[in-house]
Amino acid sequence: SSNGLGKTPQMGWNSWNHFGCNIDENIIRGTADAMVSTGLSKVGYEYVNIDDCWGELNRDAQGNLVAKASTFPSGMKALVDYVHSKGLKLGIYSDAGYYTCSKTMPGSLGYEEQDAKTFASWGIDYLKYDNCFNNGTNPQERYPKMSEALSNAGCPIFYSMCEWGDQNPATWGPKIANSWRTTGDIQDNWDSITSRADQNDQWAAYAGPGGWNDPDMLEVGNGNMSTVEYRSHFSIWALMKAPLLIGCDIRSATSETLEILSNSEVINVNQDPLGVQGKKVSQQGDLEVWAGPLSNNRVAVILWNRSTSQDAITANWGAIGLPSDAIVQARDLWAHSYLPSDLQGSLTSTVDSHDVKMYILTLSSG
Ligand code: GLA
Repeated sequence: SSNGLGKTPQMGWNSWNHFGCNIDENIIRGTADAMVSTGLSKVGYEYVNIDDCWGELNRDAQGNLVAKASTFPSGMKALVDYVHSKGLKLGIYSDAGYYTCSKTMPGSLGYEEQDAKTFASWGIDYLKYDNCFNNGTNPQERYPKMSEALSNAGCPIFYSMCEWGDQNPATWGPKIANSWRTTGDIQDNWDSITSRADQNDQWAAYAGPGGWNDPDMLEVGNGNMSTVEYRSHFSIWALMKAPLLIGCDIRSATSETLEILSNSEVINVNQDPLGVQGKKVSQQGDLEVWAGPLSNNRVAVILWNRSTSQDAITANWGAIGLPSDAIVQARDLWAHSYLPSDLQGSLTSTVDSHDVKMYILTLSSG
């Protein structure tokens, strides 16, 4: 999008994956507090995003959306002010249809200008725009309308399209949005992570500064996968330049969860200014190599073991875009250390089942 936002993928938190419709203003305030007290804000997480179910079922007499009195009694403006006072930004949710997906509140179809102005008047920084109850009308008509309304509303609002990848949004999203979903809803299990990674991978060429492919929000810390699996999930999302939107309850996150989410070396890959989405570059059965270029001629590489047993995985320079005679120094982003000696031609490591090794390779001066 040309709104100047999303030069790197968005980082923050969203209520949906953990809380669903059971949200209220105390959860949002507490999450903003925890974002700061856990140190997550320091490593780059900035958006606190409210998903579905924040509003009343009916618009007011002027046709405005209104915050649900029973759960958000202080209203959205006060909540925005609170989140801003913590140095963070507040995101909200609506739908390019007649209702939102929960059907507990109206959508913005036909009310784009009015709702964008309402969001701007509250000081909202981010809109996730969903796709339910659209009566089959073309998303390429519905989504640009809100994009325009947001730019007319007077202050920059990050625009996250949640079209589920139905009509190849990567091919038309970059002009109007800062990110677009490439997949259906993520779930907290291994099949969901691997299949979403593969689906999102197809659209790599369309991502770049200003607009990103979105394989959906993180499940790290929600409890149904192992620490190793969450580490894989986070690493691949970072390499794919996916939005890093935390989906667990960070007010009660364990130290293992926070250690994954706070790994600055992995986050730096995601936030690299070059903004090129890393891809799956080679595969032998369930043993995969993913890689992508970084600024300053560096390369990020992930050895991903999707199989059920430990195995060795090799990344060949040819596959990851390095000249075959290049000599590199390899930084292990999870061990936080350099490999003891320089490498030429390939990198091989043993990787546990469902685990990753993640590296940044830097050309040695020789
Ligand atoms: C859709 C979206 C989800 C979430 C729910 C809310 O399913 O894809 O991310 O926003 O709606 O109802």
